[in-house]
Amino acid sequence: MNDTATDDTATDDTATSEQLTVLDHPLVNHKMGRLRQVTTDPQMFRSLCNEITLLTAYEALRDLPTESVTIETPITTTEAQQLTKPAPVVVGILRAGLVMVEAILTLIPQASVGHLGMFRDPDTHQPVEYYNKLPVDVAEREIILVDPMLATGGSAAHALDVLKRAGCTKIRLISIIGCPEGVAAVHGAHPDVPITLAALDERLNENAYIVPGLGDAGDRIYGTK
Ligand code: PRP
Ligand code: URA
Repeated sequence: MNDTATDDTATDDTATSEQLTVLDHPLVNHKMGRLRQVTTDPQMFRSLCNEITLLTAYEALRDLPTESVTIETPITTTEAQQLTKPAPVVVGILRAGLVMVEAILTLIPQASVGHLGMFRDPDTHQPVEYYNKLPVDVAEREIILVDPMLATGGSAAHALDVLKRAGCTKIRLISIIGCPEGVAAVHGAHPDVPITLAALDERLNENAYIVPGLGDAGDRIYGTK
């Protein structure tokens, strides 16, 4: 895990290839172990997803555009940085992406939220879309697409198709766990989209679940199994 090719821009906390960043940080790694653990209950699972998303987003959002503004401190006038407007849109893939949306809103409360509903067909593992609600001006805005699991990559690639058809050009994807198959599928279809992961796992199993993974993220978040 966390063994992607490195380049000169990689920090001690990340392994970075051109469009893939995988965190490698003691806090993230500790929380990932607890998240994966089969005995972790839904309340703790949601809490860990939230914390891991906060830490992963800190890295993934490093290059969000900012602008200078003049502000008054109690002492003097100075230049400060603020996120450019319009604010980003965080787009969650339902169901499991919702827990990550809440974490991003903690960091960027002024963000708007888009929802894309899709589930994997149990036999084909292909995404089936059932809901789509995006802000009307989504095309002009920075998009932060979130889904905890990047398995075959089908759901993320489909979400990216939908966003691009809506006119979006500045999109990044944040997931908690990915695998080489999912990264390759998304990069193959959408080479312009940077991916940031808290962990890169080994592979998919015969049921297209990530190994070692954490099982079904939606079921673990919402206690439905
Ligand atoms: C999970 C996960 C992703 C998808 C990843 O959702 O949240 O959306 O699987 O798999 P993929 O990369 O192979 O497409 P799921 O389909 O289980 O739906 P749910 O969130 O409603 O449980
Ligand atoms: N979706 C999940 O929730 N987990 C996996 O391992 C793969 C797809």
